[in-house]
Formats: sequence, C-alpha cells, structure tokens
Amino acid sequence: MQRANSVNRLETSYNSSVRIVILLTEAAHPIFRKKTPVMTQPVDLPAWQALKQHFDSTHTTSLREHFAADSARFDQFQLNAAGLFLDYSKNHVTRQTMDLLVQLAGEAGVEKKIAAMFAGDQVNPTEGRPALHTALRNRSNTPVLVDGHDVMPDVNKVLERLGAFSDRVRDGDWRGFTGEPITDVVNIGIGGSDLGPVMASEALAAFAHDRLKLHFVSNVDGSHLASTVKRLNPQTTLFVIASKTFTTQETLTNANSAKQWFLESDATQSDVAKHFVALSTNAERVTAFGIDQNNMFEFWDWVGGRYSLWSAIGLPLILSIGMPRFTQFLEGAHAMDEHFRRAPLSENMPVILALLTVWYNNFHQAHSHLIAPYDQYLHRFPAYLQQLTMESNGKSVHVDGSAVSCDTGPIVWGEPGTNGQHAYFQLVHQGTHIIPTDFILPMESLHPIGQHHELLMANCFAQSEALMMGKNSEELTLEMNKAGASADEIDRLTGHRSFAGNRPSNTIMTQRIDAKALGALIATYEHKVYVEAAIWDINPFDQWGVELGKQLASKIQSELAGGKTITAHDSSTNGLINRALKMRNLQA
Ligand code: F6P
Repeated sequence: MQRANSVNRLETSYNSSVRIVILLTEAAHPIFRKKTPVMTQPVDLPAWQALKQHFDSTHTTSLREHFAADSARFDQFQLNAAGLFLDYSKNHVTRQTMDLLVQLAGEAGVEKKIAAMFAGDQVNPTEGRPALHTALRNRSNTPVLVDGHDVMPDVNKVLERLGAFSDRVRDGDWRGFTGEPITDVVNIGIGGSDLGPVMASEALAAFAHDRLKLHFVSNVDGSHLASTVKRLNPQTTLFVIASKTFTTQETLTNANSAKQWFLESDATQSDVAKHFVALSTNAERVTAFGIDQNNMFEFWDWVGGRYSLWSAIGLPLILSIGMPRFTQFLEGAHAMDEHFRRAPLSENMPVILALLTVWYNNFHQAHSHLIAPYDQYLHRFPAYLQQLTMESNGKSVHVDGSAVSCDTGPIVWGEPGTNGQHAYFQLVHQGTHIIPTDFILPMESLHPIGQHHELLMANCFAQSEALMMGKNSEELTLEMNKAGASADEIDRLTGHRSFAGNRPSNTIMTQRIDAKALGALIATYEHKVYVEAAIWDINPFDQWGVELGKQLASKIQSELAGGKTITAHDSSTNGLINRALKMRNLQA
C-alpha cells in the first residue's frame, strides 16, 4: 500500500472476513512519531511517479497479450551470469517497464550503494559497521579495507585453519577422548548460525563425507537436542557451537546441555577440548563458556549473522564437503559478486530480480513471494531465504530514521516442487492473491534414475506455463466437449474449472546444483535483497525488531521461576503466565 508520509496503518484481522484498517497520523499518535525525513522519499523519485502512471496505463494487458505481441519476448527478457540463466519474460513488464525500473534504481543511487558495500563503507549505520560478506569470498584477494586495515590476510588465515582442522576430522586424524575418529558433528546455533549451514549442507549432501554425519540443533525446545543426541555416541561426537555474539540464549542453553550430556559419559572436563569447538566473533565469551581459544574459529562484526555462511560459520559445510569444494562454493559466489558490481543495471541479475520484486510489491500490491526450487537437495533454501530477506528488509524506517512511505520487504515462503504442487499451488493458480514465483531448476540430476528428472523438469515448466496461461472458458469448453461433457455440465463447471492465469514468475536454471552453482545462487539473492533495500532506502543489515522479544523472554523466564502471581504485564500476558504457573503446579 502506498500512503502519505505522515500516515501509519494498523491492520487487524479479527477473522478471515473482517479486517479493520486504522489510519493513524503521526501528529495524533506520538508513539508512531519518527524523525522528519531528510532524504528524498523513494515514492517522490521521478521514476517512481512515472512507474505509477505506467502501471495505471498498462496493468490490464495480460501476459498472454504480451507474448502474442512480441514473439522475441523470451530472448529479450533473459540474463546469464555466473553459471545461472534467468528467464524473466513471464512477468508483467514491457521494455518500457524495465527501462523505468532501471531508471528508478539509478535515481535511488543503487550503483553508488553497490560500490559502497564492496568498498567497506558503513552500509549498516545503526550498528556502525560495513557489511563485507563479499570479502569472505573475495577469491581475487584484492585488498579490502576496514578502518584502513586490509581484512584479506585475516580472512585467508581463518580459511587455512578451517581447512587444516576439517582435514584432520575428515581423515580420522582428529580423535575423540577414547581415541576413536569423529563420526557425528552437531552444530548448535540458531538463525544465521544455523539456517545457512543446514541449507547448504543439505543442498550439497550428494558430496558429503562418507563417515561424518551432520546434525543441527537450533530450537531451545529440549526435544531438539534430546532427540538428536539420543542416537549419538559421546566418544565420537564433535559439537560445533556457532554463535556470532555467543550471547544467544537458545544456543548457550543448548550448548550447556550438550556439554552436560557429554560429561555425563566417561568424559572429563579436559576431554571437552577434543569434542567442542566454537565459531564466533566473541573470544571472551567463548573462553568463559570453557572452549579453548585454539578451538575457536573467528569471524568479525562486519559479517552479518544471515550473511555468515561464507565465514567460520561454514565449518559444518566444510567438514561435510571438504575445503576444495568449499573453495568452489566461494568461487561461485565471487563470480556473482563480480557480475553484480560490474554489470550495467539493466543486465545485472540481482538488480533485475530486485526491481521485479519492487514492481510487484509496490505497484501491483503483491506482497508475497514464492520460492519453488525444483531440486530436493534445495529443500531448506526457502527457509534460508526467509531469514535473509525478511530479517533484512522487514523494516519500517528509512536509513535516516524517518517512517517509510512505501511497503518494504515482502513475505517469502516456499517448498520444493513437485511437492508444493500438491499442497499450496491451488491458491497460487486460482486464489485471490497474486504471488510472484521464482522457479529454480538444475538441468542434471545428481541421481539420474529412469525418467525422474525429465518428469521434474516437465512439471517445473508446466507450472510456470499454467500460471501464466491459465485456461479460459473457450479452452475449457473445447476440452470438456471432447471428453463428452453435456452443455449443462460445462455451464455448471466453467466458473470453477477455468481460470485467468496471468500470474508472473521467473525461472532460474543451472547445469546442476554443485558447490559453485549454489554459491552463485545464494549470492544472487543476497545482492537482490541489498538492491531492494537500496531502493526502499532502508538498512538491510540490522534487526532491532527481534530484540524486544529477547528482553521480555528473560524477564518472563525469571517470573516463571519465581512462582509468584504476576501483575506486571497486560492482562492477557499476566493471565497466560499465571495460568502456566498453575498448570505446572508452580504458583505459590
Ligand atoms: O535473533 C536474531 C539473530 O540476531 C540473527 O540475526 C542471528 O543470525 C541469530 O540471532 C543468531 O545470532 P548469534 O549468531 O549471535 O547467536
């Protein structure tokens, strides 16, 4: 929804059919008061205004009509970069739309902002930091300066240590306290210290080490840890405690319980060094936890949590696929980085993907984005992208602290195809929401069995075609006539069985999902998120919204332990806590 600068919108759904929208002016409601904007708002940029008019005059043209009008549309709206092929012809765009969107990127200063990120400028001003995940995969090794210090030697030193350590574990040279080689690695972390490593090690599971099994514990629900260690032998288990800050409650709680589980075996305190390593920026806290600094792999505060897979946080992946393949992973991302920083905006894959998201989110009012990988190994990719995009661009203020006057990050979700087709695709085809979709498809299966892959590919292409073409009443009538349906039956079912299509999608293809392609794919989405943020003029690298819940949880945790009747919160929260105390027989 576009709205005037000074208006905030509170929307409450009491049930699916009743929706109350309250418009609050900042003046009347000081709780919403934000700084006066100092920058030109994105909605005030000439290209934004031009896009609004362009939308009004073109949005009734259907995708079928676009294709009918231009037989070369597929050739016109496609890109190749870093081993990825993008078809974006099945979108509600014309050449003029793309030109205006590129103009918008220009007016929003995207090129400068890209250069600023690579240069190590403080692109995360609320935390006073650069965002240099690109330095972690800078395979050209050109110097990258943070406060005048070249970070590349530090990056390379940690990569070397990670390589040496993973070689020892993989070769069976790193032994547990009874002299046995490690068989199981348990990563304990959450958010960026979990989602990236899980997603990537699942995506590259075909290249996994034969002996080492990876496990990931993230949820503070004790069932996650208990059900994981239940099948493990402490003598052959290595725990990787992954936390950028080493203050995250869930991770530290799980790590402490894991240590307790380990020490409840025949192991002693001095054996901890053989079974616990830490990945963190916080050496002090790691030492306080009882992990030797020799067993700590560091990274730096200029690496954002959700951008940290390329750093020491990638250790579980390195253990699984080995350092040479991890290097290919970095190379794939680096190739996309080079494309992103050098290609003109109109031929730049992450930029084009971001502009399409802005087009749908801010002009078509389509606020949800579906990620549909047609590759079982990418089954955690949508969940990973959820954190990457929603934690980055779920913001309501501009970089200068003033309230945004346009919608920001869309809701991202998804599941691998073909499973999604038998679950939620009905809504994508015939529901009332327009859901732009990214299809991701490798050409080769890593397990070619019979005709499986041909079937998978056919389904992927069929879905994007069906979403775009739909089935009109003439086509349906013809089809039902052929099948021998009566005129009455055709009449009764036409409304249900015909549908307009006209639903947009991108298709990203690659030869196969290997380390290099995965690196390029992830980097594409990282940069897409950055460009969106650049256009909306928001900071994609902080996440203040998650802090309040953490603070309240600490307070409520002591209240739950205290056993006294609670009155300090609103009546619902008091009621729930007091009810919980009663139900757990804890109330005094
Ligand atoms: O709660 C959000 C968050 O700060 C994420 O940004 C981060 O990836 C996650 O928690 C884990 O943080 P850490 O790696 O410091 O434990």
